[in-house]
Order: sequence, then C-alpha cells, then structure tokens
Amino acid sequence: MSDGKIRDCGSRTAAAAASPLLRIRGMRKQFRLEAGLFGSDKKQVYAVNGVSLTVAKGETYGLVGESGSGKSTLAKCLVNVYPYDEGEVLFYDSGTPYSLDVKSRKKYPALTHKIKYIFQDPAASLDPRMTVEEILTIGVRYAKLMSRSEARQKALFLTDAVGLTRDSLDRRPADFSGGQRQRISLARALMSSPDLLICDEVVSALDVSVQGQILNLLTDLKKEFGFSMLFIAHDLGVVSYISDRIGVMYGGRLTEEAEARELFSSPMHPYTRLLLASVPRADGRFLQVSAAGEPFDAVNPPPGCPFAPRCPFVNDDCRKKEWLSGCRNATAESRYCLCLKCGQLSR
Ligand SMILES: Nc1ncnc2c1ncn2[C@@H]1O[C@H](COP(=O)(O)OP(=O)(O)OP(=O)(O)O)[C@@H](O)[C@H]1O
Ligand code: SF4
Ligand SMILES: [Mg+2]
Repeated sequence: MSDGKIRDCGSRTAAAAASPLLRIRGMRKQFRLEAGLFGSDKKQVYAVNGVSLTVAKGETYGLVGESGSGKSTLAKCLVNVYPYDEGEVLFYDSGTPYSLDVKSRKKYPALTHKIKYIFQDPAASLDPRMTVEEILTIGVRYAKLMSRSEARQKALFLTDAVGLTRDSLDRRPADFSGGQRQRISLARALMSSPDLLICDEVVSALDVSVQGQILNLLTDLKKEFGFSMLFIAHDLGVVSYISDRIGVMYGGRLTEEAEARELFSSPMHPYTRLLLASVPRADGRFLQVSAAGEPFDAVNPPPGCPFAPRCPFVNDDCRKKEWLSGCRNATAESRYCLCLKCGQLSR
C-alpha cells in the first residue's frame, strides 16, 4: 500500500517504544452509508483511515480533533463496539501482546476487563433503574471476577476514591448531578482494575468548574491506580491539561503527534497551527478544536490531503492521490506530521 512508510511512523517516543501498552498500526474503519442517505446506496465513509499510534504504560495520550474526525470510532474499535476493518492493534498484558481483533477477543475474554471506556453522557450510560451498587458491581459479578461481598467492598472503596459518600451506593443515578454521575461512571470503569481507561469527551457536557474537578480527579486516580489513559476531546485546552502526548486527528487520519508541550510551542501541521493561532476564549472556557473553512466532507473526500480544501499552504502536489507517499516524518524522533511540507514551514 502506498502509505506503508507512514504507518511505520506510528508513535515515536522512546517511552512508547520501550514499554507500549497499546500499539495501533494502520487502523482502518469504514462505514457503509444507509441506502438513500446523501443520495447514494453505495457510498462508504472512512471514519478511521490508516491511523498508527502507541500508548505507553502509565501515559496519558490525548486525542483531539474536530467533530467527525474519527476519534470515537477509533476508540470504539478498541473495545469492540465495532470491529476494525484493517490494521493491527496490539494490547500488552504484562508485556505479552494480544491482538484486539474479533478472533483474539473471543479467545481471551479477559481483555475486555483490561480496557474500559467512559462515555460522554453519563446519564445515558447509567441504567436509571439500578442502584449505584448494582451499576458498579454487575459487570465484575457477571464475569465472575469477584464474589458479591468482594464486589461490594471494592465498590465502597471506589466510591470513596472518586469522592462520593458511601450512602451513594444505595441511590439511583437520578439522585446525582452530572459531575457526580461522571464520578459513578469512573468508579464503574475502575471496578475491574483496567490497564487502559478510554475517556471519550468525559467532561464536555459539564460546567467549567466541574470539568476541572473531574480532570484533577482523573489525574489523582491515575497516580493511585497506575492505569494509562486515552483521553479524547475536542477541547484543546482540556487535552493539553491532562495529556503527556497529543495526537491530532483530521478526516480520519492522524495528522500530527507530539509531546503536549512541543505541540503547543512548535506545531508543525498547518491544521494544528491554525488551531493554535485561534484566539483563546475570553470567558475562561477551553479552546474548541475548529479552524476556519468548511469541515471535512467524509462522503466526498478530496483526492489528496484531507486538509487541502482548507490549507493556506496547499499546492498541486497536495491534491494528488499520491500525496501520502511524499509525506515525511518530522525531523525529531518524537514528532509525527502528515504533511508534504512538515519541517519546511516557517514559524
Ligand atoms: N455508526 C456509524 N455509521 C455511519 N457513519 C458513522 C458511524 N459512526 C461514525 N460515523 C461517521 O464516521 C466519522 C467519524 O465519526 P466519529 O464519531 O468517530 O467522530 P468524532 O471525532 O468522535 O466526532 P465528535 O467529536 O463529534 O464525537 C463521521 O463522518 C461520522 O459521521
Ligand atoms: S499536505 Fe499540503 S494541503 Fe495537506 S496540510 Fe500539508 S501543505 Fe496543507
Ligand atoms: Mg466522538
């Protein structure tokens, strides 16, 4: 395939290479559009198009990108909401790599408990008929990971850890605020002591002050329990606050990846540069990930670089089908940039 070189560029820091927890190589996921939708019954959209990245043990990897860039689809492929179509995804359990494809998942069902996903909307993901104790314990009891009393003990412990009172266990989701419900989601995700926590827009629906509380809680829990995080958001400020490294997605592709600090001090990809050039919001809320111009059209993608229709540096080569093979990795080992002009644009 023409993008073989790019795929090998994956995540590049020494830590990620030396002790990977999750290694994604060339992941692709397509969706077939419903008959009649957008006037076609044949169209397929690439939600994730050849993404490679690595999350190191103990690392928080932030995935950022505007709406529709493929962040959630990538994450959902990791927890088997959808099977990925192409690529290799390896999860390292005590140093041993296990593929996350459908066959391997059936063979190693315990993988399910090692990776947990927290959704944006806690109200929709918590069964309103259950008590918090039932919500927290049902998964581990069903999987026979714990007895009833062990599960209750752990639920009590985690209720404390996420800052809820112990009597919360007897109450139902409707009795809690949005921030408290997200704490319940967090406790539920931690019941099976996962190695990787996927947080998909977990603070987007919360007030700014509550956002800060949940981000600090996540940081503290990560220190205490030692899990790694894939933290997804379209708020660049939120992602930079919590992440060690950041990957920027656009049109189903990883367009740039760098240490969080580096990404802010010397963005390389034109999309990242446009994002960072936007004026921060005066009301104290975080900077939203969007740049000027029409959003990416997944149904009718441009033939070359997905960012070409909005890029101030576009030239004819960017619009050619072969653009990908001309992309170079950035100069420093820890950087990745999917652009024909990486490293050539002046500051
Ligand atoms: N089940 C589905 N069926 C068809 N298309 C889908 C499906 N899920 C996602 N898509 C499409 O895949 C692309 C990526 O969507 P995805 O939800 O992964 O983006 P995202 O980056 O998470 O966006 P957001 O920030 O809005 O959550 C979009 O074009 C979306 O319309
Ligand atoms: S490849 Fe070309 S169009 Fe795409 S981001 Fe780089 S300069 Fe812009
Ligand atoms: Mg999403």
